[in-house]
Amino acid sequence: MADKPKKLAIQDIQATVAKGEPVFQITAVDYPTALAVDRAGIEFILVGDSLGMTALGLDGTVSVTMDMMIHHAKAVSRAANRAIVIGDLPFGAYHASTAQAVDNAVRLMKEGACDVVKLEGGEDFTDKIQAIVRAGIPVMGHIGLTPQTVSKLGGFKVQGKDVATSLQLIRDAKALEKAGACAMVLEAIPDRIAKLITETVSIPTMGIGAGPDCDGQVLVLADMIGMFDRFTPRFVKQYCKVGEQITNAMTSFMEDVRTSQFPLAEHCFTIKDEQYEAVLEALKKT
Ligand code: KIV
Repeated sequence: MADKPKKLAIQDIQATVAKGEPVFQITAVDYPTALAVDRAGIEFILVGDSLGMTALGLDGTVSVTMDMMIHHAKAVSRAANRAIVIGDLPFGAYHASTAQAVDNAVRLMKEGACDVVKLEGGEDFTDKIQAIVRAGIPVMGHIGLTPQTVSKLGGFKVQGKDVATSLQLIRDAKALEKAGACAMVLEAIPDRIAKLITETVSIPTMGIGAGPDCDGQVLVLADMIGMFDRFTPRFVKQYCKVGEQITNAMTSFMEDVRTSQFPLAEHCFTIKDEQYEAVLEALKKT
C-alpha cells in the first residue's frame, strides 16, 4: 500500500503562494469524490454550502443547515489525507452573535473534522472572524458575490463593477486580513479588481469568476465535471460530462440486460454439481 501523504497546513499554502505558484481549491460533498480530488493533489477541499443545490437539489444555499454541513464534512474529511478541508458556515450559523459563530465553527471542527471554516462577508463580519480565530480556528473569508445574501444583492450578479462597490470590496479584503483570516475567496469580481485585491492583501486570494491574477483558483466540482445541469455560470470551464456518462451507462446497462449481454458467466457465482443435485433431491422430498 502507498504511504499516506503528509497532511498540508495553511503554512504550506502560504509557502506555495510565496513561490508564485498557484493554489487549487475544489468542492466535494462525499467520500469517493473527495478521495479523487485529494489524490489529484488539490490543496483545499471545500465542503461548500453549494451542496444544498448540487447534492441536495435545493433552490439555493439559504436553507442549508449546520447538520447538513456536518454530515457531508464528516465524509469528506475521512477522504482528505493530504488536502486541507474547509467547512462552510451556512446562512444563519454565524450572524446572530460572536458566541454563535464560535460555537458553530467549533462544531465544524469537532464533528465535521474540518481544518478551516469559511464564512461569507467583509467588514461587517470582522468581529465574528476575530472571535473564531481567537478560538484557534483558521478562517477563510468570502467576498464579492456571496450566494447566502443573493436576495440582498438582487441576484447572482458580478460585484464591484463601479467605483463605490470596488472600493468597498478592497476595504472588505483588508478587513478580513486584519481580522486574522488565513485566505479569502473572491467570487464574481472583475479581473482587474481581483488583481488589485490580490496585490493589496498578504493572505492568499482564491478566485472563482475573478480572473487569472488571484493566488489560486476555486471551482465547484459538480459544475466542472458536468454533474449539475440547472445552470453553468460563465466563469466555469467544464472538463468532462460525468452526468451524461452516467445516463449513457444506465442506457447500456438496460440494453445489455434486455439482449442477454449481462450478467454473463463471469459475473455469476457457481455451486458444485453434486451440491446442486443434492438440492434437487432434497426438493423432491419436500
Ligand atoms: O459553497 C461553495 O461552493 C462556495 C464556492 C462557490 C467558493 O462557497
